Amino acid sequence: MIRPIVKYPDPILQRPTELVTEFNDELRTLANDMFESMYAAKGIGLAAPQIGVGQRLTVIDLSNKEKPDEKIVLVNPEVIETQGRQYEEEGCLSLPEIREKVVRAAKVKVKAQNLDGEWFEMEGEELLARAFQHEIDHLDGVLFIYRLSGLKRDLILRRIRKLQRTGEW
Ligand code: NI
Repeated sequence: MIRPIVKYPDPILQRPTELVTEFNDELRTLANDMFESMYAAKGIGLAAPQIGVGQRLTVIDLSNKEKPDEKIVLVNPEVIETQGRQYEEEGCLSLPEIREKVVRAAKVKVKAQNLDGEWFEMEGEELLARAFQHEIDHLDGVLFIYRLSGLKRDLILRRIRKLQRTGEW
């Protein structure tokens, strides 16, 4: 089921999520809904709070549905190692049409559980490393605009408020 994407400034996007403790059909359905909602919105990553669910769960698919083996589900993920630095443009389905360059680690290793509750580790670089960091930030209640300088962030927040006033946000 496609669920609507929650937009900034909804408070659920700015609160840390709860750990997932039940690995059941409900969790599977939630993960499936997240993939469907992400594909419908043409995204490559989606965190549970973005469909209004405050749980520590994110899905990523850099191929955007083209390659089924590129579907990644991370339950209760943590970044356990970082290396290097990259500075590339990011966007977010909860901040439509806002794109800015963000400083991130170039390579990260994450630890997470799968939908059966089994722990695994996974490494990513470049775009995948960015997706890991961006999505895990969501689970901590952090949006990418909080990773920008205060000046850039203020300009974006002003732009959003203006769009809100004209009913375009
Ligand atoms: Ni995002």
